[in-house]
Amino acid sequence: MEDFVTLNYNGTEIKLPVVTGSEGEKAIDISRLRADTGFITMDPGYVNTGSCMSSITFMDGENGILRYRGIPVEQLAEKSTYKETAYLLINGRLPTRDELTEFSINLNDNSLVHTDLKAFFQNFPRQSHPMGILSSMVNALRSFYPTYGPLEEEINMTMTRLLAKVRTMAAMSYKISRGHELVLPRPDMTYCENFLNMMFDTPVKPYEIKKEVVNALRVFWILHADHEQNCSTSSVRMVGSARVNLYAAISAGIAALWGPLHGGANQAVIEMLTDIQNDGGSYQSAIERARDKNDSFRLMGFGHRVYKTYDPRAKIMKKMCDELLDSLNIDDPLLDIARGLEETALQDPYFIDHNLYPNVDFYSGIVLRAIGIPTNMFTVMFALGRLPGWIAQWKESVDDPRWKISRPRQVYTGEQEYDYIPLHARNA
Ligand code: SDX
Repeated sequence: MEDFVTLNYNGTEIKLPVVTGSEGEKAIDISRLRADTGFITMDPGYVNTGSCMSSITFMDGENGILRYRGIPVEQLAEKSTYKETAYLLINGRLPTRDELTEFSINLNDNSLVHTDLKAFFQNFPRQSHPMGILSSMVNALRSFYPTYGPLEEEINMTMTRLLAKVRTMAAMSYKISRGHELVLPRPDMTYCENFLNMMFDTPVKPYEIKKEVVNALRVFWILHADHEQNCSTSSVRMVGSARVNLYAAISAGIAALWGPLHGGANQAVIEMLTDIQNDGGSYQSAIERARDKNDSFRLMGFGHRVYKTYDPRAKIMKKMCDELLDSLNIDDPLLDIARGLEETALQDPYFIDHNLYPNVDFYSGIVLRAIGIPTNMFTVMFALGRLPGWIAQWKESVDDPRWKISRPRQVYTGEQEYDYIPLHARNA
């Protein structure tokens, strides 16, 4: 039975189809609205607007549910590997043993980057933010790996190169920023072990791979792997819709993620907690500033466009904080401040009324600090985690029969027509 809504305006009535998702979500399909009525819709920030039908990730913001291809993120965080989760997101199902082995071999075989890329890194100003470097370098990959073969083969090769090389590039940028020798990826290490080793191994002090640190990184990246149509993913889809190469679309996603309201929040949370610590550790003033309409301050790591309850990823991240810091015997004062801030905020009427809860970024920075990641690389870590999600979403958009270039409309509010006024006739 066809489902539709009726739109009535000034005696004109039209029926608009209703689409229903596999979890019962409903949407009004307005793809014929302007052609049939001359009207467009208005929805700043796309709060109520769906951009696509997608089978990759399901989020239920009211109940704090997150599933990748139907599998609860809690189960993947407990039982899967980052590589396996990346395969699941991109290919739509978990790999067989042979498929996972082949995927691993492909990633290892492509994890080196062209030595000429080193010259690029070295010519960025020393104080450059790693997210600006990463976005530029990912875009530059196209110049080093132009496409030649059949499209399907090139797409698969480009996806593999991104997953394999961006991790190496991130570690490379860190080593160059410290003036240290580069450490190359090793085929005898797992994806997460390799990243840690490339980041922290030095000739004078070999890096000791600790299983609890590798596990924390594995969970961190799985929790960040995809999140349906967030700002950076929508940017990847939007830029990809002009049919640019995947490197350019991913570069746009990295740029969007950099923002402090988005992926940049994990760095902003640590800076906020550090400010509170330096002000004597009282978080009451942060709460009061966050409530103050006249103050642009926001409690970083709190609130979410979709989750109106506790972000399921934040729950896992908070538990991992305790376990990791205990196992490494680290006493991070920022964790105590974060816990106290959360407890106070969750009892505050303003936060209760606005449904503001910790999101994925609230505790993630404390995990990254414990691993030894520098604060200005926190969002790079988010980008590395989100890479398979961006790739999967771009691929789904390319394969979508309704795929077309994204081009929103507007309501014009400027001057109505008037004639050009010659310079001599204008007021002084
Ligand atoms: C990520 O979309 C995703 O899925 C993103 C992400 C992913 O995995 O891709 O989950 C990752 O980006 C997580 C969010 C990280 N950002 C932050 O932690 C920054 C702090 N949070 C906010 O700025 C805010 O909550 C957003 C940006 C996350 C969501 O903003 P919305 O949905 O646009 O909500 P809004 O700005 O319209 O706020 C609604 C109300 C406002 O008050 P009123 O004017 O209605 O009275 O809530 C208030 C806001 O002032 N509010 C906050 C607040 N967040 C919202 N007030 C104080 N502190 C906050 N953090």
